Amino acid sequence: MTGGTLPEVVWDVVTRSGFVVVANRMPVDEVSPATTPSPAAVAAGSAALRPLPASGREWRRSPGGLVTALHPVLVARGGTWVGWAGGVGEPPEPFELEGVRLHPVRLDSVDLERYYEGQSNASIWPLYHDAVETPVYRRRWRESYREVNARFAAAAAEVAAPGATVWVQDYQLQLVPAMLREQRPDLRIGFFLHIPFPPIELFMQLPGRAEVLNGLLGADLIGFQQKLAAQNFVRLARHLLGLRYRGQTVKVEHREVKAGAFPISIDVAEMEQLAANPAVQARAKQIRAELGDPVTVVLGVDRLDYTKGIELRLKAFRELLAEGRLAVPDTVMVQVATPSRERVEHYQTLRIRVEREVGRINGEFGRVGVPAVHYLHQSYSRTELAALYCAADVMMVTPLRDGMNLVAKEYVAARADTGGALVLSEFAGAATELRQAFLCNPYDPEAVKETLLRAVHVPPPEAARRIRAMQRHLRSHDVDQWARNFLAELGS
Ligand code: ADP
Ligand code: G6P
Repeated sequence: MTGGTLPEVVWDVVTRSGFVVVANRMPVDEVSPATTPSPAAVAAGSAALRPLPASGREWRRSPGGLVTALHPVLVARGGTWVGWAGGVGEPPEPFELEGVRLHPVRLDSVDLERYYEGQSNASIWPLYHDAVETPVYRRRWRESYREVNARFAAAAAEVAAPGATVWVQDYQLQLVPAMLREQRPDLRIGFFLHIPFPPIELFMQLPGRAEVLNGLLGADLIGFQQKLAAQNFVRLARHLLGLRYRGQTVKVEHREVKAGAFPISIDVAEMEQLAANPAVQARAKQIRAELGDPVTVVLGVDRLDYTKGIELRLKAFRELLAEGRLAVPDTVMVQVATPSRERVEHYQTLRIRVEREVGRINGEFGRVGVPAVHYLHQSYSRTELAALYCAADVMMVTPLRDGMNLVAKEYVAARADTGGALVLSEFAGAATELRQAFLCNPYDPEAVKETLLRAVHVPPPEAARRIRAMQRHLRSHDVDQWARNFLAELGS
């Protein structure tokens, strides 16, 4: 899916579907004046947009890994996607995009502040990511979370055909499974958590914790990124609600609820094809030339999120420059940081810290026309991202905690030339699968520096061996297989 070629059809009668995905985000996001992309981003093809014929609204691809993974699944299978369209107030009429019916759910500005920015992204997000930032809790945020979850459940109940499969996604909608079951006991309900599930001690901090757990237990199958998360979950059900479990199956009244690990992936063939495109290869060369044809290009691509370890990566780079173990202009770093959740305080302070660090590095080590770090606070098209991956000798993925991290998988899939080296945090879900990456502990600055240096200096045959092994793994574990495994286990 690229911006600018969205074949939309306004779809005005409620059509019931046998397969429904419910996620906070739809695959496209309405562009409000405040989120209008910069001219540079548009030039790079990030968000060339076309208004919906009937509404005059403008759209672009939504941010984040959930959309990257689920969009190809829905395009391949067909079905309805229930989600928030990105704006506030009256949502657009349901419409169709690339064979997927999109059913927008309304959020008003109070919902946005309390349900989305508050409960979802200032309470649950930090708590589930090891509390790397201190979670903030407010009663009115929880009330709004409940109200909005009920709205999503009602929308799903409206569009699901009798006996349909409804697949609810992620931490914003944990109450939906139980709410939906209450209204539509005929449905098969799955839930997938894209982010980590915390250990019991951390989960127990969450105000309203039993309600969240009961919400999830409304599903027939609850999927996690990691085995350990599924184990945490069933133990928590016993600890908090006294429920019995055997293996990964929890007994809830007369039902059985299964938990399991389903590590998510990417559309590997799509990324391989993109990267093999001669225009992308030419763009990759051009990017290197624009960077001054350095010996080594180090790349980071993340949402600007405090879980991603962007600051620690920049500090590692600065210290290596200061110690003379790396030097500009032989080595340059490119950090793409997609704007994210910009009204949440944790994100505002992170942006200030990251931009201060970039300024400091460029002030100390850059020269006129030769910055040490190229910092891009913008969204890009899939094509431009693929070109960046192909242009990078070392990809740094250093989250403090991450459910999976699809950027790591995209980089590996893009490197058909078997060049390139991936530095990967042990605390990204992807580290369980991409064992041939240069793994590091992101909490240990010296380890990050040493690992970065090993990746910079890896002999090409060794780099090729590592990348090839990871590519083999990804080809047999792509997102289509992820969806098939989950839905087969759900019995759909
Ligand atoms: P998260 O879901 O937490 O953002 P992931 O790494 O799993 O992290 O997924 C991020 C997705 O967003 C990837 O598919 C990546 O290609 C995409 N992405 C990241 N940065 C940008 C950007 N600046 N422009 C466009 N897409 C981006
Ligand atoms: C992560 C979450 C998704 C979320 C995405 C982008 O991938 O798991 O649920 O959609 O980040 O975040 P946003 O708040 O912009 O939807």
